[in-house]
Amino acid sequence: MPAGFNSLFIPGPTNIPNELRAAMNLPSEDQRSPDFPALTLGLFRDLKQIFKLDHGKVFLFPGSGTGGWEAAITNTLSPGDTVLASEFGQFSHLWIDLCKRHHLNVDAIDVAWGQGVPVDVYAERLANDKEHKIKAVLVCHNETASGVTSDVEAVRRALDDANHPALLMVDGVSSIASIDFRMTEWGVDLAVSGSQKGFMLPCGLAIVAASEKALEASKSAKCPRCFFSFDDMIATNKDGYFPYTPATSLLHGLRASVDLLLNEGLENVFSRHNRLAEGVRKAVDGWGLKLVAEEPKWYSDTVSAIYVPEGFDANDVIKIAYGRYDLSLGGGLSRLAGRVFRIGHLGWLNDLMLLQAIAGAEMAMADVGIPIELGSGVRSAQQHYRQTAKPTELDLAG
Ligand SMILES: Cc1ncc(COP(=O)(O)O)c(C=O)c1O
Repeated sequence: MPAGFNSLFIPGPTNIPNELRAAMNLPSEDQRSPDFPALTLGLFRDLKQIFKLDHGKVFLFPGSGTGGWEAAITNTLSPGDTVLASEFGQFSHLWIDLCKRHHLNVDAIDVAWGQGVPVDVYAERLANDKEHKIKAVLVCHNETASGVTSDVEAVRRALDDANHPALLMVDGVSSIASIDFRMTEWGVDLAVSGSQKGFMLPCGLAIVAASEKALEASKSAKCPRCFFSFDDMIATNKDGYFPYTPATSLLHGLRASVDLLLNEGLENVFSRHNRLAEGVRKAVDGWGLKLVAEEPKWYSDTVSAIYVPEGFDANDVIKIAYGRYDLSLGGGLSRLAGRVFRIGHLGWLNDLMLLQAIAGAEMAMADVGIPIELGSGVRSAQQHYRQTAKPTELDLAG
């Protein structure tokens, strides 16, 4: 094993803070004990603050983000229902695929990878749907494959302007707990996340929030569900228990995660992510390279997908970064394979950690022959981090 840490800059799973690791380092426990609800009831309550959900429920399924998609869909829709969606990256594509496999009728709008949800097209489709055939509108808030963030609030406005009753479903797997998300204010009915990104835990929990309207829809929805049943969860969660064995150590980790996020303050978490992401974007400029995200309005504060110049294979950069420098970068997925590498900048991170990723990517690019000047990205990011660093009490200590 090489000495030192692996520098983990894939866009999830993310780095796990020490206090979260410690919180999960527990013996097995009795999930039916009388004191178990002291953990779980507080979690159900406090997670609502992370989702900014006033009413409704947060569900904790053993699973991953994909399970969360399935829970959202199967609990609220019936086979044959029409959903409006858009595809602009591998994850928006996979959610659509999941809907089709559940026999939903998907009106999938094809969008260039590098852009996000086409709000104007959604608005038109909703305005024209006088019979309200569309039962749900899907938004991939942060497309992790392309590093593109979409405007959920604008989709809400489009629904309201058309006076359309469809449910608004959001994939927040790589946005929630990292970038601004307001479930109640934006009228989101179902929001899906996972434990391994903004929540800074290992993979293993699908975290799904449902509005009162979504819970009402679940009463008549006909898609088959068992493992992901809201009803079964509600029946047992109300007393702090689960319909089957919960991932107990992850729940303790989640308690520590929620505490960490709320202690830092969500707005501070969001601005930290923005500032760190901006440093990566400055580095990309310094290298003279391009992001997949076509315009600043699409820039993601949790992941940057960076094109390598024509004639180079991004997978070589990723291989060298890992093999020589013990740096994990994200690869290009599907139609971006070989054309991009991705730097994940979400979760438990600070300036110097990001500079490791930027320096390592720079070295690996130089090693494969990409004509970039060593130090050009690092310098641009350093300047940004120095200019935007906030003085702390410790500056004056001692
Ligand atoms: C935006 C987005 N949605 C869904 C998923 C699928 O989540 P999981 O891999 O946890 O099933 C991912 C995974 O990276 C993602 O980034």
